[in-house]
Order: sequence, then structure tokens, then C-alpha cells
Amino acid sequence: MNPTENSPALETTPHNGSVAEANTTTVTAKPGDGSRLCENWHDEEIEPRGPISELLLAAFANQAAPPTIDGLADEVASAIASGRDLVRDDDVQLALYLLYGLSYGRVVDNGDQWEWHPDTVAARLDLERAFEAQLRELVPTTELPNAAAEDVAQALFALTAPDPDAGPSLSRHVAKSLTHEQAIEFMVQRSIYTLKEADPHSWAIPRLTGRAKAALVEIQADEYGNGRRERMHSELFARSMRGIGLDSRYGTYVNFAPAITLASFNMISLFGMNRRLRGAIAGHLAAFEMTSSIPNGLYARGFRRLGFDESVTEYFDEHVEADAVHEQIAARDLAGGLAESEPALLSEIFFGARACLLIDEWVGDHILESWVAEKSSLRKPFPFEAVLADRDGGTASPADAEVGAGR
Ligand SMILES: [Fe+2]
Ligand SMILES: [Fe+2]
Repeated sequence: MNPTENSPALETTPHNGSVAEANTTTVTAKPGDGSRLCENWHDEEIEPRGPISELLLAAFANQAAPPTIDGLADEVASAIASGRDLVRDDDVQLALYLLYGLSYGRVVDNGDQWEWHPDTVAARLDLERAFEAQLRELVPTTELPNAAAEDVAQALFALTAPDPDAGPSLSRHVAKSLTHEQAIEFMVQRSIYTLKEADPHSWAIPRLTGRAKAALVEIQADEYGNGRRERMHSELFARSMRGIGLDSRYGTYVNFAPAITLASFNMISLFGMNRRLRGAIAGHLAAFEMTSSIPNGLYARGFRRLGFDESVTEYFDEHVEADAVHEQIAARDLAGGLAESEPALLSEIFFGARACLLIDEWVGDHILESWVAEKSSLRKPFPFEAVLADRDGGTASPADAEVGAGR
């Protein structure tokens, strides 16, 4: 799809990395000039975090793709051989984020020519296999139910049920104690996935068949607003970001996102883009939907307590109801239906569910532990004052009117 189809106005006003809302200017695509369509998705350059991401970003800066990215394979091999914790490795997670971003778009300029370049494909395969291998070591195994839809659903509901003995949780903190700065951080952290909400699971649609495919399409149609752009969950979240004074263009805050936040998003891309992992992506979405409704109610309460109105809380309110429905479809028809049609995938379904719970728990723990220690959960200092001042200025976002009008 032409990147401009879904985005009638590309915001192009430079603001030196400021988080102030930019004016919008329509950019007209020139025929044969596809590489320039992605310019200025965001103003701040993505910062390398080590040798792999440095080589990738330097290569992507070329207008024409050179035949090789010298040294990339060696750096990838060296990172994998190092035995480092790849889940929390800034360079590896940013590299995967950039490589998957070539398929999502809106991450780097000139990305189209690199999507299927032999060197980027090889780097992605090597890095994602090493990442997957570490996930398989970290994720606990589960006693498997029968490969019958209802049994699978019951086992997933048991796995994802709230633990009454659990310690402090991010969602309860948000409900009770969220500060304005933490509200900004929370949205910045979530923006990496949520401005692309549903896209990484959608890779699985053509990789599934029958009842599981129908279930995934039913859930995704809802995530994409059932044909109404302004009801797309990613659009609702973008509106929430603008409502608290943040820039809602995709990728604006990637430099602030720690490795674990990128890992959470990369893991869904890994599961979704590999057909052999179709069991894992089904299990991931089931666990994701089954652990969404209650926390979103608490998030809405926390943002309301700070005085934000429906334009900010609508995203969370929407998920209280929507995900109470989605979790039923995901457990019985998507995960359960897939297990019935392909019983050999049963353990993969539960691997995906467990991986979702584990990594998202680590993301939540990282944020909450940072806040309890009175530190930022972000990777580098964030210009909170600029956001707060911009919001207090009370200017309506031009993008809000645009979303309401466009389809
Ligand atoms: Fe959603
Ligand atoms: Fe959902």
C-alpha cells in the first residue's frame, strides 16, 4: 500500500526534536519517487546503540542500496556468539526493530529498497533465531491440555487469571499514584507497539486457515475500527498521545524506548512473520487479549484522576469492553481452533502465551521499579517540561480534525 493512502497529511514541520505538536503540511508523492514518501515521519534521527544498529542506520542513509553492508554479518555473528542477554540488549533489539521496520514502514527513510536486501534479510534471520532461542530458554513450559478448543481455552484462562498473591502491579500504580510525568512516560513506552496496534499479529492471517483464521480476522477487524479509520485502535491511541501533549507520529520516541520495550514489540513481529511460529502468534494474541481488559480499566481510572477527559481515556475505555469479547474469540476459536486443526502446534500455542506474559511482565516491572526508585523508565532524559507546557497551552491538534474527516 502506498504509505500516503492511510495518512492524508504527513507532518513535515521540523521542530528540532521538540515534542510540540507540529503543523501539518500535505506532501504530494511524485511518480517514481517512492523512496521519498517516508521522509520526516519524525524529526529526531534514530540513534545507534552499538555496531549492528550503527551499520544498519549508516546503510539506510544511502539513497541507493549498495550491494553489501560491509561488516554487518561479522557484527551480528559476534553479538550472537557473545552469550549476551539479547532480550535486554540495546543494539540487538534496536537492530531487530529497524529490520522489522522495513516491512512496517514509517521507521526509516528509504526503507523500501532495503526490505528484501540479502544482507538485511540475513541479519534479521540470524538475530531473530538467536532471540527466539533465548526466549525458549527463558519461557517456562506448561502442562498441556488436550488439543480440544474448550480445553485449550480453559487452560489459557487459568494461565492468565489474575494472581491474588501477586505483588505491586503497574496497572494498580497507574490507577492510584500516576503522576503527570509518569503519564507521559507510560504513553511513550506504549507508543512503540500501540501506534502500530494489531499490525504485528496481522502477519499471521495468511499463515492460518479455517476457524483460527476467521477468529483472527474477526478480532483484527475490530482492532482496525471495522472500516472506520477514526475507530482504529492505533488512531484512538494517537489521539490519547496528542491529548497529553505528545507527538503521535510513529517512531518519534524510539530513542527513549529501552531494549525491553523494543523486545516486546520485536517478539510479536518474530512470531507473526514466521509461518513456522503460527502457533506462538496465536497463543501470544490469546494471552495479550486475556490480560488486557482489567488493566485498561485501571489505566483509564489513573488518567481520569489526573484530570484527562475522554479524548485521552477513550483508548483505555474501549479496551475494557472490546477485549472482554476478544479474549473469548482468541481463546476458543483462534488458539483452540488452531489446536484442534493442528494438534502438533499445542505446545507452540502455550509457548507464545507464556512468552507474552513473561516479556510484558518484565516491561511492566521495569517501568514500575524505575518509578518506585524515583527514576525514569526511559532510556535517556525526556523533555517533560516541553510536553507539559505545550499541553497547558491547550492548542487543539490539527490531526484530530483530520482523523475525524478522513477514511
Ligand atoms: Fe486494541
Ligand atoms: Fe483487542
